[in-house]
Amino acid sequence: MSTGYIPQEVLDEIAARCDIVSVINEYVPLKRRGSNYQGLCPFHNEKTPSFSVSPGKQIFHCFGCGKGGNVFRFIMDIEGISFLEAVEKLAKRANVPLPEKEMTAEQRKKMEQRKRYLQINDFAARYYHKVLMESQQGKPYREYLKRRQISDEIIEKFQLGATPPGWDSLYQALKKRGVSNQEMLDLGLISESRKNGQYIDRFRQRLMFPIGDEKGNVIAFGGRIIDKDASPQKYLNSPDTPLFHKSRNLYGLHLARTGIRNADQAIIVEGYMDVISCHQYGITNAVAPLGTAFTPEQGRLLMRNTYQMGISFDGDAAGIKATMRCLDILSDLGCTARVIQIPDQADPDEYLKKYGKEAFERLIKEAQELIMYKIARFMETTNTDTITGKMKVVSMLLPDLRKMQSAVARETAIREISIRLQVSEKAVWDELRKSSDAAAEPGRKEEEASVSVQETEQKAGNIESKIEKNILHILFDRPDLLELVESYGGVSLFDSPAAELYQEFQSSIRRCGKVDSAGIGQDKGQLLANLLMDELYITDQEKTMNNALWQLKAERLDQEYQRLSQRLTENTKVGETGNMHEILQKLDNIRREKKELETSRKGE
Ligand code: CTP
Ligand code: MN
Repeated sequence: MSTGYIPQEVLDEIAARCDIVSVINEYVPLKRRGSNYQGLCPFHNEKTPSFSVSPGKQIFHCFGCGKGGNVFRFIMDIEGISFLEAVEKLAKRANVPLPEKEMTAEQRKKMEQRKRYLQINDFAARYYHKVLMESQQGKPYREYLKRRQISDEIIEKFQLGATPPGWDSLYQALKKRGVSNQEMLDLGLISESRKNGQYIDRFRQRLMFPIGDEKGNVIAFGGRIIDKDASPQKYLNSPDTPLFHKSRNLYGLHLARTGIRNADQAIIVEGYMDVISCHQYGITNAVAPLGTAFTPEQGRLLMRNTYQMGISFDGDAAGIKATMRCLDILSDLGCTARVIQIPDQADPDEYLKKYGKEAFERLIKEAQELIMYKIARFMETTNTDTITGKMKVVSMLLPDLRKMQSAVARETAIREISIRLQVSEKAVWDELRKSSDAAAEPGRKEEEASVSVQETEQKAGNIESKIEKNILHILFDRPDLLELVESYGGVSLFDSPAAELYQEFQSSIRRCGKVDSAGIGQDKGQLLANLLMDELYITDQEKTMNNALWQLKAERLDQEYQRLSQRLTENTKVGETGNMHEILQKLDNIRREKKELETSRKGE
């Protein structure tokens, strides 16, 4: 792979300063296991961790989907960016200066535009904040926040703001600073008035909530009316813009990341005020979707920090539906999702104000897991005195029972169902079995088949031979042993795909004295990662290498000898004698080589 304008030394420097464990840990929570770290693979959905990171080798590998490679590869795949972009990203993180890059005019324009967009939003956020804090017009908003017991500290932390009176104050202020109408429209800060084609501020008469990206850049706004007559719409949000996609961001995430990591749990609440209240009461791991249903993208964002989620939406019918949907999304992603239930249909904001932090934390502890929550909800909405009612509840629970990975969890759930519905456990088991058989019929089978095809495709590149693996592994650590491998026959020793990987090693070592894993292409990068994931416990690498090479060479000679003698027999059978002499010559050579090999061994 071409590294373009970046010299090898710079790549090495970046890789050396970006420890792969801490880089990946920003996307995937990792737990130490032996000399490696483990987590749920971010590249495929799984419920038991098969994603492994080796701090020693500075590589990652997923035993489930086969993805693997070094830190550059990880960033490329997780961010969906090119090698050069990944290098740039990590260089920035590591504070390694990159040589001036020849950006295309278009790229430079795009980057500068994004920077400008962020500056404009930042200006707007500070403008709104100033209106709230310092102006006469901000007074009703300050009083509103006081009534809702929002502290000054929290107002600062969330950079809350207020719109100025009038139709176009922000528009005028931005215009004065040279911001174009088009940019303001792009960001959804203004709209064109239908009446006279004039531009007016999108947000008017509203308390303003800046929405940050993961790093805290202001990418959008939400605005709440505080006066019922101001608008029929309580909340108004920015539209999707070049900076903002409501389905891919979460309110409060940049402020909650530390809290989420410390608690090893994220609390998902419904709205702005719930997030704010939680933080004020010290529940600093709360985030909220942005006025739309919770999405898998949002789940993945959270999974960069934890696999444990607590959902605390409203207790009304709509809230229950949203909760179920969110539970399903999170559990399909492999998270443990629980429902934090608040009595009396209150929201977290109301509950915290009334009962305080400890009470809320108790609710978090008592949160129900998916299946228990669903049992209770289905029983509330179905009359389970009747047989049809019971059957209905069981059948609604079957998909979740089927999905459960743990036998213990399934058994516990079935016991619970049996007790609550007053049916035998066996009956539930029978239904489950029937439904599993049905689910294994055509439609479902196809789905499973396609998964396994994909898996075998990805795994097809594995090196099966332990001995080939060991040789390549040692060579990776000890590039100075290349000539030793060559003396035993080099590439001819290996089968595919080890042979191709060896060739990469060889040219890389000849080029820069070591195996440059950054320069190895994607498929071979995975091969390499898989190879290096096995820890080698070797004290004398040179000696082990010698032994392995000797053994592999001997095996190869034996194989070749066998192959040739077989051909000889077959040829004799069909009376073909043409190349008999040649084959006999070759067999002779092999016998000699084998003998030499044995002598060299004894001579040690
Ligand atoms: N929402 C929205 N548009 C609306 C109403 C609600 O986008 N017209 C979104 C907002 O993100 C809001 C969330 O849905 O935060 C939850 O709505 P609600 O419970 O009504 O708002 P709260 O955040 O609880 O605000 P408040 O307590 O001030 O009513
Ligand atoms: Mn509320």
